[in-house]
Amino acid sequence: MGAARPGGRAAMDTGQIKPLRGLAMRAILVLNAKGGSGKTTVATNLAGYYAAEGAKVVLADYDPQGSSMDWLRQRGTNAAKIGAVDAAAGALRVPRSTDVVILDAPAGTHGDILATLLRKAHTAIVPVVPSPVDIRAAQRFFGELREVRPLVDNDVKICTVASRVRDGARTSDDLEDFLMDQKLPSGRRFPFLTWLRQSTAYLKAAEKGLSIFELPPSQGAVDREYWVPLLKWLASPRSLPEG
Ligand SMILES: Nc1ncnc2c1ncn2[C@@H]1O[C@H](COP(=O)(O)OP(=O)(O)OP(=O)(O)O)[C@@H](O)[C@H]1O
Ligand SMILES: [Mg+2]
Repeated sequence: MGAARPGGRAAMDTGQIKPLRGLAMRAILVLNAKGGSGKTTVATNLAGYYAAEGAKVVLADYDPQGSSMDWLRQRGTNAAKIGAVDAAAGALRVPRSTDVVILDAPAGTHGDILATLLRKAHTAIVPVVPSPVDIRAAQRFFGELREVRPLVDNDVKICTVASRVRDGARTSDDLEDFLMDQKLPSGRRFPFLTWLRQSTAYLKAAEKGLSIFELPPSQGAVDREYWVPLLKWLASPRSLPEG
């Protein structure tokens, strides 16, 4: 069974999303060594989603390019507050009262840095663009994840999402086959959760430092639907370390 996708026919999961409140501080890492795969878009939209839900959110930008920090600077004072940590410049220090910290990894994260970031997270999300070049790069990256994973002694849970998906794009089939196949040597899969559409709603929201969840209801509604499987997984124990 594939995830519901733009232009596809699989049933869309529109069940209710539980907020993260009540959990201890949660660290969610967004990573993929390939540039432009949608990491910052996923990280900032997740941050906006949880903030709008009333959670205390910190966005930690590990990229010296500072795109997440740029996004936050556009955010008006009317929007739900999100804390900023320029983690490329200094240590990751967050207030104790933080509910969720989102870590935005830079392109080219390999080796020791990859292991270091994975150690900080309970959950990791890998966005992959459905293009032949991106799929080949992701094949190498998943190879690296499999090598690094035994060096990381926490039980970080890793999932994948397709990103910047054009309606009906043919390479999406290849991406689905590839992502459905990914697993760790232990046999545990990286669940492939959803297709995030290429959409101007992300650009319109980002202009104002907002997530698509903070746009007026008439804008970006379909794009929000495609987030539901990811948001539900993040709210379930399956995305949390065991024990
Ligand atoms: N779903 C989407 N719809 C439309 N545009 C998107 C979407 N996702 C990402 N983009 C655009 O694609 C470009 C790359 O996305 P983004 O910055 O999120 O990727 P990244 O993986 O963080 O890149 P980098 O590796 O440089 O940090 C940006 O201009 C972003 O606005
Ligand atoms: Mg980025």
